[in-house]
Amino acid sequence: MQTLRVELGDRSYSIVIGNDQLEGLGASLSAAGHKGRIAVVSNPTVFALYGDRVMGALGDAGFEPFRLLIPDGEEYKSLSSLESIYTGLLTARLDRKSLLVALGGGVIGDITGYAASTYMRGIDFVQVPTTLLAQVDSSVGGKTGVNHTLGKNMIGTFWQPRLVWIDIRTLLTLPKREFVSGLAEVIKYGVIWDREFFDFLETGAAKVLALDNDALVHVIRRSCEIKAEVVSKDEREAGLRAILNYGHTIGHAIETATGYKKYLHGEAVAIGMVAAARLSEVLGLMDGRQTERIESLVRDYGLPTAIPGDLGFDELLSCMQLDKKTVSGTLTFVLPEKISAVRIEKGVSPEAIRKAIELSR
Ligand code: NAD
Ligand code: GLY
Repeated sequence: MQTLRVELGDRSYSIVIGNDQLEGLGASLSAAGHKGRIAVVSNPTVFALYGDRVMGALGDAGFEPFRLLIPDGEEYKSLSSLESIYTGLLTARLDRKSLLVALGGGVIGDITGYAASTYMRGIDFVQVPTTLLAQVDSSVGGKTGVNHTLGKNMIGTFWQPRLVWIDIRTLLTLPKREFVSGLAEVIKYGVIWDREFFDFLETGAAKVLALDNDALVHVIRRSCEIKAEVVSKDEREAGLRAILNYGHTIGHAIETATGYKKYLHGEAVAIGMVAAARLSEVLGLMDGRQTERIESLVRDYGLPTAIPGDLGFDELLSCMQLDKKTVSGTLTFVLPEKISAVRIEKGVSPEAIRKAIELSR
C-alpha cells in the first residue's frame, strides 16, 4: 500500500494505492473519524463486480451504507441522473455530516463529486476509482460535473474528495479497450512533465500492457504524483493546471465531430497529443524527432495516432471554437517544446492548425 498527498491546506487529502484493498476502505474512513451516514454511488456494471465488497467493508466498520445506482454510460452523467441522486439522498435523510462514496469510473466520480459539492451546500465525498482513467486522472484534483445537452462537462464545480482509494486489482475486470484508453492520459504526464517517466513507458510497455503489478503501481503512482503536484500549485486552473489539457483541444474536437461514438476519450486525446506535437513542429517549437517518439509511444500502446481523413478541417475548427478553453474566440493549445516540457500557446493561427492537421492524417 502506498500513500501520496495532495497538498491543498485544510482541503489536503491522501491517495492510497494498493492491490486488493477494497476491504480496507471502511476501517480507513472510521480511522479518519467519519461517523455519519454513507451513500455509495455506482452503476450496475461496477456495483455487480465490487459493490458487495465495498458495502461489506463499510458494514464491518460499523457503517450502514446504502446504494444509489445510476445507469451505465456517459449519457447518464446528466442533470436528470443528478436529480435522482439528490432524491435518493433526501429520501434516505442524509444530512450535512453524511458522506458519498463514488465507486466507478470517471462518469460516477464526476457526478458524485458534483452531487457532494451541492447537496446541502456541500458534503464530503470519497473517490474509489475503478478505471485506469479515473485512477490516474479524474479522481484526483476535484473537477466535478455533469454534461448538458448543449455541451460536455459544462456544469461543474471544484470540490476536492476527502480521500482517493485506488485498488489496482479492479483493473483486471476492465475491458482492454478502456484500459488502453486510460494509458493516453498516462503518456500525457510523461510528455508534459517527466522524461524519465516517458522513458519508463517506452521500455516498460510490454509489462504495463500485461498489467504487471509493479509496472501498474509505478504508472498509477507517478501519474497521481504529477497530477497532485500540478493541482497543489494551481487548483482552479488559473494557469499551470491547463497543461493537463495537452492533447485535449484537438481530442475534444474529434470527439465532438464524431458524436462521441467512434472514439473513447483517451483514444481521441491520443490523436490530439500527436497532432499537438505536429503543431509544435509547424510553429518551430520542437524538432521532429521528439514528435516521432511521442507518436511511436502512442502507437506502441495500441492507441490511434491519425486524424481520420473524413473529418474536415472546418468542422474540427468550429468544434475547437466551441470548446470551454476557447475564450473570446482565441484558440489555446498546450504545445510540447520537448519531452517533459510544454507551453500554453494562445492565439494559434488557423493556418498553422490546418497544416498540423493535414500532417496528422
Ligand atoms: P466510465 O466511467 O464511463 O467507465 C468506462 C466503462 O467501464 C463503463 O462502462 C463502466 O461501467 C466500466 N467500468 C468501470 N470500472 C470497471 C471495472 N473495474 N471493471 C469493468 N468495467 C468497469 O469512463 P471513464 O473513462 O472512467 O471516465 C470518463 C469520464 O471521466 C468522462 O465523463 C470525462 O469527462 C471524465 N473525466 C473527468 C476528469 C476530471 O478531472 N474530473 C478528467 C478526465 C475525464
Ligand atoms: N483532467 C484535467 C484536469 O483535471 O485539470
